[in-house]
Amino acid sequence: MNLPPHLTIRGDHLWIGEHDTTDLARTWGTPLYVTDQDRIAACYAAYRDALTAEYSRVRILYAAKANGNLAVLRTLAGLGAGADVFSSGELHLALSAGMPPGTLLFNGSSKSRSDLALAVEKKVPVSVDSLDELRQLDAVAALAGTTARIAFRVNPAIDVPTHPKIATGLATSKFGIAHNLIPSAYREALDCPHIDPVGIHCHIGSQILAVEPFARACEVMMRIVGEITDLGVGLEFVDLGGGLGIPYHRGDGERAPSPHDYARAVVPLFREGIREAGISPELWIEPGRSLVADSTILLAGVNSVKPAHRTFVNVDAGFNLLVRPAMYDSWHEVIAANKAGRDGTVLYTIAGPICETGDILAHDRMLPGLASGDLIAVLDAGAYGFAMSSQYNSRPRCPEVILNGGKAALMRRGEDIADLTRTMETPPWQEPGH
Ligand code: LLP
Repeated sequence: MNLPPHLTIRGDHLWIGEHDTTDLARTWGTPLYVTDQDRIAACYAAYRDALTAEYSRVRILYAAKANGNLAVLRTLAGLGAGADVFSSGELHLALSAGMPPGTLLFNGSSKSRSDLALAVEKKVPVSVDSLDELRQLDAVAALAGTTARIAFRVNPAIDVPTHPKIATGLATSKFGIAHNLIPSAYREALDCPHIDPVGIHCHIGSQILAVEPFARACEVMMRIVGEITDLGVGLEFVDLGGGLGIPYHRGDGERAPSPHDYARAVVPLFREGIREAGISPELWIEPGRSLVADSTILLAGVNSVKPAHRTFVNVDAGFNLLVRPAMYDSWHEVIAANKAGRDGTVLYTIAGPICETGDILAHDRMLPGLASGDLIAVLDAGAYGFAMSSQYNSRPRCPEVILNGGKAALMRRGEDIADLTRTMETPPWQEPGH
């Protein structure tokens, strides 16, 4: 299996970094998310080095939606990353992690007045998704007696090879303003007294395993960059979005393009476009998944094994903790973490504890014979894993542990039963003695 370098099999056990997964499970219990901080740093460095080799003025905005834990954000902030934030919550987290406001971009197709007011107050640039939003933001900035720095989110109408639910730049998608309408949007922005158009932004989709769609998007963007520069827009940044996919099918030797492949395919087109426009803006990109996905595994304990029309392995983590298989039919590799050195001999279906037929983490996997008390590891769980978790079936969310060399520490405690009722209120007529 094509494992990332921080995952190794030693004897019968799966290790992550310098830690035996069976020790981690013994110490912290299961289910358990485990993140290797050094792996995030290595993924960030690969992007930074590949991009800066092609163009010096680069900023990497980590897509905070992928994994919003403060320890992850702090790791990336410490390396110089900014962030793509998609809500006031993500904005707060990115600022709390120490990212300067000017290195964030407030994205979103449905921002509230209070979202806009927060962006203005914190001086975070806004990616504006509609003319309606532009006018509201102009009014919000006027009220605050200031000017809002903006980009427009371009809908480049690009078809991409990925799951339809995560293709974001189709002509039919809800995001952005159609590319042919963008110049007139900038014309209106230039006339708004409290708007300062300083950037341009697009995003075409997620889990894309080719660089060619990014190159096509870049071409569309650079055509527009030329047009709006002629209108008098002084572009300080061009944000080409995120989206390099990762090789989830590790057993099949699947490959993903590297940041180097991306930089070589896209940056020359960017350089050519800005040369023609006679400008030298920063190049921004917004990777999420490819920075954090493979840093993290989800450890789950085997509760029981049941031979039926399939042989089910019933584990203690389900779509409450990792919804991707149920939501997008996503593939995540599964390793028997305490029997990792043994050959697969039995075909299993890994089922979670949730009361839904669709609560299957993995279908038809050849694994060594498993029994109650064994441990499985679900790989590549660091992006859109915990971030999309829920308390469905009233299951407290599990803890998250972060590793730094030989050290291991909680980056989020597990919830307990009291957390389930913490935000619930008793209506007065249900109070005892009412
Ligand atoms: N920037 C914007 C504006 C985005 O909408 C996204 C992802 C990203 C950056 C980061 O893209 P990445 O580098 O992670 O591909 N929950 C889905 C993925 C949804 C992605 C939505 N937007 C999944 O689990 O596959």
